[in-house]
Amino acid sequence: MHDVANLVQRATAEIAAARDVKTLEAARTRFLGRKGELTALLKSLGTLPEADRPAAGEAINDAKTRLHAAIEHRRTALEQERIDARLSAERVDVTLPGRGQRHGGLHPVTQTLELVEDLFTQIGFAIADGPEIENDYYNFEALNIPAQHPARAMHDTFYLRDHPLLLRTHTSNVQIRYMQHHPPPLRIISTGRVYRCDSDMTHTPMFHQIEGLVVDEDSSFADLKGVLEDFVAHFFGRPVELRFRPSYFPFTEPSAEVDIRGESGWLEILGCGMVHPRVLENVGIDSERFTGFAFGMGAERLAMLKYGINDLRIFFENDLRFLRQFG
Ligand code: PHE
Repeated sequence: MHDVANLVQRATAEIAAARDVKTLEAARTRFLGRKGELTALLKSLGTLPEADRPAAGEAINDAKTRLHAAIEHRRTALEQERIDARLSAERVDVTLPGRGQRHGGLHPVTQTLELVEDLFTQIGFAIADGPEIENDYYNFEALNIPAQHPARAMHDTFYLRDHPLLLRTHTSNVQIRYMQHHPPPLRIISTGRVYRCDSDMTHTPMFHQIEGLVVDEDSSFADLKGVLEDFVAHFFGRPVELRFRPSYFPFTEPSAEVDIRGESGWLEILGCGMVHPRVLENVGIDSERFTGFAFGMGAERLAMLKYGINDLRIFFENDLRFLRQFG
């Protein structure tokens, strides 16, 4: 019976040392399988003297029961270990703060455009629209901009390769397109992107303009001035100092540029003037009967002044730390 005791000792040690189910199963086969060590002992019972057989048989059966129990015990422990490992690997810390959901917001330039449209529609202006890809006629020709004008040079205007088209340099193209289909009296506001080969602290190759146009039987420069002064007071929510400087645009006569007093001095925000008679004639409006005024503002300039921003390029860098301040 020395053999049985020895076998139980080795088997128990091996079962306890099994690190996984596969090793455990191998141990079971080796000791309890059909060709296992314990089965071999059982088969050798017949070679013992008759008198020794019952005691030996009992010892072997007893060993078999103990090893079965040891294996089951170990199997349960291994299974529990596996579950514990998985639980701790997949642990969810329910005390962590939630990720939350951020609200989107409109870009400060979009907010500016919407506010401007809102203010002008309140005083009876209609909203008009025009294409960003434009032809020479609407961007220059019909606006009385002569062929030699510097704005038409390659270094100021983006022309399309292989097409007689360009990216509009201002929103004034909308003036022509609108007047072609709408007889006066008319008053419109139009906002949108414009493009120029330009880039520095106060210029980007793409920016936004706001165009205004009024044509009526007796519109005057005084009306223009009144509309603009009224507009800036409402836009900034406080009285603002405006400065009209005599200027020149081929499509207005007389013309002026308007500056606003900002933190670091005067900042030009718009060009304006009385619509040139030739522009009215170009769209078939009787310039003896009708007069008009027009203005074109830089939307980013307005936004810079409203929000106290000193570099225009930041509007287009898509830096969320900047944009979130306007959400
Ligand atoms: N289109 C002019 C510009 O872009 C601005 C302007 C608009 C001037 C309407 C006069 C009248 O500079």
